[in-house]
Amino acid sequence: MASPVIVVFGITGDLSKRKLLPALYHLLSQDILPEDTKIVGVSRKDLDPNELLNTVELCVLERDNICDPIGMARVKNALSTIKLDPTEPADFTKLKQHLDSFDSHDERERLMYMSVPADAFEPIITNLAASDLNGPRNRLLLEKPFGYDLQSAQQLLKLINAEFDEEQIYRIDHYLAKETAQNLLAFRLHNPIFSPLWNAEHIQRVHIIATEKLGIENRIGFYEQTGAMRDLIQSHLIQLLAITMMDLPTDMSSEAIHVSKQHFMEQLIPADANTAERGQYMGYSNEVGIKSATETYAKVFLKHSAERWQGTEIVLETGKAMAEKSTQIIVEFNTPHERRRNSLTFHIQPNEGIGLDLVVKKPGFGEHMQHAELDFRYSDTFKNIVEIDAYERVLMDAVRGDQSLFASDREVLASWQVLQPIVDKWAASGDGMHSYTMGATPEEVCSDRSE
Ligand code: BG6
Repeated sequence: MASPVIVVFGITGDLSKRKLLPALYHLLSQDILPEDTKIVGVSRKDLDPNELLNTVELCVLERDNICDPIGMARVKNALSTIKLDPTEPADFTKLKQHLDSFDSHDERERLMYMSVPADAFEPIITNLAASDLNGPRNRLLLEKPFGYDLQSAQQLLKLINAEFDEEQIYRIDHYLAKETAQNLLAFRLHNPIFSPLWNAEHIQRVHIIATEKLGIENRIGFYEQTGAMRDLIQSHLIQLLAITMMDLPTDMSSEAIHVSKQHFMEQLIPADANTAERGQYMGYSNEVGIKSATETYAKVFLKHSAERWQGTEIVLETGKAMAEKSTQIIVEFNTPHERRRNSLTFHIQPNEGIGLDLVVKKPGFGEHMQHAELDFRYSDTFKNIVEIDAYERVLMDAVRGDQSLFASDREVLASWQVLQPIVDKWAASGDGMHSYTMGATPEEVCSDRSE
């Protein structure tokens, strides 16, 4: 099979610099992508490929502290740039000619990576289709947000599905491509001792929490439209939740995984907006230059309608500018006679691992009990393993045509459906916004609440 062409729309954007360009460099320098892969950087402005190469080098150096000249030579060989206005059909004709020029005997698969603002989606999709760039060998890789609410998501899906088949569409959720998130499903499948406990009778609460130390950096426009709930809960955290709680798929095929995931998500009960909490870090409004009602912290309580999960409390929580960068899935078991519950924690990042919290007797004459953790960390067990970045995995899976780690259209709609009551309530008024100092812990954010 011929090597692929990876077309990046929005090559000069923040995501491209932080994640995509270093990922492409790694895949080429480590021979994971074939040497004659082509990368086309699409930008609204004229972009000199050498300038872009310098950017790649800087991004790689910033991340890895080292940049291999042979790897850079491969990127140089692969890279070309093209100027394109998303609303200009003639520019897409030029793009097509450029892509056609890479075909020899075999037709290359084309990955169109959309790292563009939401309002550029529509003209790009329409013009790709009008220029005959939507045939079966063209795959679309879409970055979130997939809509702004249920209705806009429906419209967006309709627009894309009119021009591309679902098999051609890869909706990226890079949290699903993180090593520990991948391990979650494998863990559930291969450790059957937990299977009899995986239900409401034994699990009191599933708490998924993702906090970040960083604020919104320079992504003012994006964040003002998005907010914490849309940015992380509607996408990454609901997806992690589904992998944690869904019925195990009949096999590990992409189809079977999506059937289980979708089934789980469609049975989540739409949120009770009155129980949700939101907050904004102090200084946010100054940063964005307006008095803003956008939340930088959100906590959402959910319930599931399946008999298996009736009674289990589900909590999804996220915040920016908080004490630490950490993503964890904490499964708390019912232990009615203990002060603290046994829990199983999946440390998604950093210091990836799995911990089991137990109660043990303190050595000595007394009967004092205390908590202790069985603690498995990837870095201790798997030494000298080259880590695969989530974006490298996302790109390779799309090249291979494996959709397991991407969100399906039905999953996207289901997650909006669940959160729409909160979207509506929060849009109607800014009441109930907690204000927190940068560097706060999750407990501190809601501590001003008068019960
Ligand atoms: C992105 C969000 O999807 O995930 C960002 O838009 C967030 O706001 C980022 O910072 C976090 O990703 P990671 O992999 O650094 O945890």
